[in-house]
Amino acid sequence: AAFAAPVDTTKCGEATTLPPGVIPKIDCCPPPNPDIIDFVFPSKRQPLRIRPAAHMLDAKYIAKFNRAMQLMRDLPKDDPHSFAQQAAIHCAYCDSAYQMVGFPNKKIDVHFSWLFFPFHRWYLYFYEKILGKLIDDPTFGLPYWNWDSPNGAPIPAIFADPKSPLYDTLRDALHQPPLKADLNYSKDKPSPTDESELIKSNNTVMYNQMVSAAKTPELFFGKPYRGGYDQIKGQGSIENIPHTQIHIWTGDPNQPYGEDMGRFYSAGRDPIFYSHHANVDRMWNIWKTLPGKNRKDITDTDYLDSAFLFYDENKQLVRVKVRDCLDTKKLGYDYQEVPLPWLRSRP
Ligand code: C2O
Repeated sequence: AAFAAPVDTTKCGEATTLPPGVIPKIDCCPPPNPDIIDFVFPSKRQPLRIRPAAHMLDAKYIAKFNRAMQLMRDLPKDDPHSFAQQAAIHCAYCDSAYQMVGFPNKKIDVHFSWLFFPFHRWYLYFYEKILGKLIDDPTFGLPYWNWDSPNGAPIPAIFADPKSPLYDTLRDALHQPPLKADLNYSKDKPSPTDESELIKSNNTVMYNQMVSAAKTPELFFGKPYRGGYDQIKGQGSIENIPHTQIHIWTGDPNQPYGEDMGRFYSAGRDPIFYSHHANVDRMWNIWKTLPGKNRKDITDTDYLDSAFLFYDENKQLVRVKVRDCLDTKKLGYDYQEVPLPWLRSRP
């Protein structure tokens, strides 16, 4: 049975897996709209949007990104382009607000399975297009947090300026730049204090999760998630580590659930979330270029036919399928190339 999520926005309901005690009780569902169209690819005549590394932006790009973000934050809360609505998308798809097609008792969580990469790719695709639309720049590429390289590992400076709309107060006060993120972070063990030790550890993590522990599509993308399935835990290598560690490392440990970045329902409220996920998304592209005959996209039709709904840059509700997001160039974007120090860090 093909798994297609969700049918329409009327099937979005209460987010049943919000952590207990979250006040006020939040509504994660998008503004309803019965008018849904199927996704069509952008015209090939548009130049590729290049997503740049967030720690290497020039002043002009920073100003442009700030302007787009401010405009998004200034929109009324019920506008599908508003930052509040964009943030709520993560809550809706990750805290069980949607039910599965044909299985009304099964609630959807796009994590811990093969839906992880494609869901977040589509989410960022529209987020980026909306930001570009707000500043009337269709070439705008969402900057990525290049945490897999030593210089890119700290929270990029643009997100750490309290006067910027890219700032978020709910972050760990001790994990501010220039401290580099620990890709193996855990609250139960101290991070390496010596910087060269930390870099070595980060490179080892990356090599392991991209190369040694990711030799097949299932190991890299995660386990199947089909119609009627429970929210099983079959994470791919990168989702497991370092994606999760960076969420927790960034969020404020003094909040009840490590908000904002440390919990699904609130993660999208931190603008750095989207740049974190841009780097996760970049790993998908890089993984397919690594040697090995099995480093290819999943071809299972249950995967390819899985669907999501998003408001596009014209406030049209669009149904997208996994099969249409496998090639980012067809979606009109690519990533600025930077060195991959971890690729030569075989332990
Ligand atoms: Cu939807 Cu980084 O999690």
